[in-house]
Amino acid sequence: MEQKLIESKIQVYQMDELCVSDRQLVDKAMLATNNSYSKYSKFSVGACIRLKNGLEIIGANHENAAYPVCMCAERSALFAAGAQYPDEPVVAIAIAARNSTGEFTTEPVSPCGSCRQAMIEIEQRYHQALRILLYGTKGVYVIDSIRDIMPLSFTDDQL
Ligand code: THU
Repeated sequence: MEQKLIESKIQVYQMDELCVSDRQLVDKAMLATNNSYSKYSKFSVGACIRLKNGLEIIGANHENAAYPVCMCAERSALFAAGAQYPDEPVVAIAIAARNSTGEFTTEPVSPCGSCRQAMIEIEQRYHQALRILLYGTKGVYVIDSIRDIMPLSFTDDQL
């Protein structure tokens, strides 16, 4: 039997330790939580992505009475960017969330499995690592590539 160890590298920053461009992206993700339509979960998620050309695009979760139709903030931003600027690589994404009391989460918000899979596809598509910033009031997780939090992922190499 062989055992394989999989490691993840996450850096934890306080907001005032982030570089200006990272802090601005997190601020915009926090603001985007105001655009959430989260009538059912009352969990308001905001995302802001940065394209290589410097453009920024926000997303927010949108829910539906038919629950499976709900769309996460991350994918709403990523798909909007892909639809408008298909040739422009996505270089970074920031995510923030507020709970039912309206407070930002203490723990950095964690992208769901479907959004991680969508982020893997973005890295494959643009041959470029995606910088991920996850906001929580106690700190911001900074992750250099989705591969750090999505090991053993399924990609087009396997088709
Ligand atoms: N949600 C996101 O928008 N992003 C995530 O990564 C986690 C979950 C949304 C989906 C749903 O509208 C609400 O949060 C509760 O799951």
